[in-house]
Amino acid sequence: MRRLTVLLMATFCAAVLASGCTKKENVIKVAVVAQMTGAEAKMGNDFKNGVSIAVDEWNSKGGVLGKKIEVLTGDDQADPKQAVSVANKMVNEGAAGIIGHFNSSCSIPASDVYTRANIPMITPASTNPLLTERGYKGVFRVCGTDDQQGKVAADFAKSKLNVKKVAILHDKTTYGQGFADLFKKHLGAAVEVVYYGGITKGDKDFKPVLTSIKEKKPDLIFFGGIYPETGLLVKQAREVNITAPFLSGDGSIDPKFVEIAGDKAAEGTYLTFSPDPDNIPAAKDFIGKYRSKFGELGPYSIYAYDAVNILLAAIKEAGTTDGKTVAEKLHSMEFSGALGKMRFTEKGDVSQSPYVVWVTRNGKFEEYWKP
Ligand code: ALA
Repeated sequence: MRRLTVLLMATFCAAVLASGCTKKENVIKVAVVAQMTGAEAKMGNDFKNGVSIAVDEWNSKGGVLGKKIEVLTGDDQADPKQAVSVANKMVNEGAAGIIGHFNSSCSIPASDVYTRANIPMITPASTNPLLTERGYKGVFRVCGTDDQQGKVAADFAKSKLNVKKVAILHDKTTYGQGFADLFKKHLGAAVEVVYYGGITKGDKDFKPVLTSIKEKKPDLIFFGGIYPETGLLVKQAREVNITAPFLSGDGSIDPKFVEIAGDKAAEGTYLTFSPDPDNIPAAKDFIGKYRSKFGELGPYSIYAYDAVNILLAAIKEAGTTDGKTVAEKLHSMEFSGALGKMRFTEKGDVSQSPYVVWVTRNGKFEEYWKP
């Protein structure tokens, strides 16, 4: 009897282990985490779409390390607290790497969670310099920084627009305020800042602040923030008869900005971002697939695609999903992505990230000025 019980227990344990092992061992999980719902959901879903194209390509070739890749999707709702909570969820669900988050205000606190869990993260879009300034070995970004973006914006304002008086607004977030402050720093003393202040994300009526700005007669209004607020600010500025152009950045260069502002009000708005991927030969294949599956690319669709390809290439090269080993590979490898060749610096930034200025014309964005 005793022998039978032992035998049954052994059989039961073996079955449990086998089913557990099969599930764990047959897939490698990567998480894509950003705002999948809410006012900024468009750009979060751009990530998801870019990642899905890359993962389908890998899986059609057998996956990585002989295992299929499974995508976990996390929604941080563009909220720093939710970002920490969803980061913990992704850790608990066994993510081997993270593609995300979008907002710097989410990526920075979430990166503490991933670092403690020894999981590498690559953000396609978080540009605040602080993200990679804390010495974390497993934190990377494939985009540029707001120091680079702020300098190009300031050089453009000074040398191309010849502005003398500027109003600076931001959305009080890590990204928005950080970008505004770096723009201000790079403007230097030659340009007078006639207004500086923050608006609140989610507010709908910006006419009081715009009326105060109008009295100061700026040549240009700079806004550090994301497209839902940029759209409303530009729309309402025209409604209070402000004619000065707006200058904003990567968080606003999306058709949704034009949709919110309206074609007429959006006309002539300047936006800093990287050069047009339609001119990059290596991006052609991805862009074709994306357009046929999801429609027009968002600004960071291609960055998300490259980010997950880089992560999976590093796992393949490392021969393991151990976070430390993968992070070391990420630091030492050079990657050929849809955006071209890419290599990470010691800090986890990309060694090259050019910015140009785009302009809004007839509801579309055109490259306008290069530094
Ligand atoms: N670049 C923006 C940020 O860092 C999206 O939040």
